[in-house]
Amino acid sequence: MATIVITGANRGIGLELAKQYQARGDHVIAAVRTASSELTGPGIETFEGVDVTDDGAVAKLASALEGRDIDVLINNAGILSRETLDDLDWGRMRAQFEVNALGPLRVTKALLPCLSEGSKVAIISSRVGSLDDNSSGNNYGYRMSKVAVNMAGVNLSHDLKDKGIPVLLLHPGYVRTEMTGMSGGIDPDESARGLIARIDETTMERTGTFWHADGTELPW
Ligand SMILES: NC(=O)c1ccc[n+]([C@@H]2O[C@H](COP(=O)([O-])OP(=O)(O)OC[C@H]3O[C@@H](n4cnc5c(N)ncnc54)[C@H](OP(=O)(O)O)[C@@H]3O)[C@@H](O)[C@H]2O)c1
Repeated sequence: MATIVITGANRGIGLELAKQYQARGDHVIAAVRTASSELTGPGIETFEGVDVTDDGAVAKLASALEGRDIDVLINNAGILSRETLDDLDWGRMRAQFEVNALGPLRVTKALLPCLSEGSKVAIISSRVGSLDDNSSGNNYGYRMSKVAVNMAGVNLSHDLKDKGIPVLLLHPGYVRTEMTGMSGGIDPDESARGLIARIDETTMERTGTFWHADGTELPW
């Protein structure tokens, strides 16, 4: 039984990840701002008030988990707002940096004492954070925040190499969740299955790489 910490596990892809890990017998620590009614049952432990932009809230989670071993940390929490060149709202763009780029780094750093050789760190990024893959523009804050988190992930992969902790950047697919207004090509269960498969197959040889949930390696 592995211990899996998931941020933003109360809905969307994070909730589905929690349910699938629970179903296979792992122990899920759901780090959420507010629990949802679906986030219940044996094998699910919920910590509320975990806003990934809040140092104090993340420190509280870290101190609650002191002495525990985490096998997989999944930085999943994220937000999307859609700025165009005609609508560059700096506040919304900063907010996306706070959650999408700084959030995973803040949480990973705070939980490092619970990670050791063989633990894995996954960051749910997005292929819209791929410079090579950008063929359409728009979504300034979201795209820029996901490029930044990709760099944070690659940096972490170097810094955690000596500890034997692989760091993986993942794109979940275009998924029907609140973030996409329930549009998308796949449902969260299919996305979560793919993400879990990618995390399962991750070794140190893959650290610092970027993968689609469907098993395709993505360009930066
Ligand atoms: N859906 C897609 O097609 C798609 C594509 C590419 C990448 N992604 C990425 O996949 C991840 C999950 O997205 P989703 O589609 O499942 O979105 P979602 O349904 O909107 O869920 C987002 C989750 O993030 C949490 N969250 C937002 N701000 C937070 C904060 N400041 N602190 C802690 N938690 C916070 C939300 O919690 P609350 O309920 O408290 O707001 C919620 O649990 C995100 O990183 C997203 O960028 C999604």
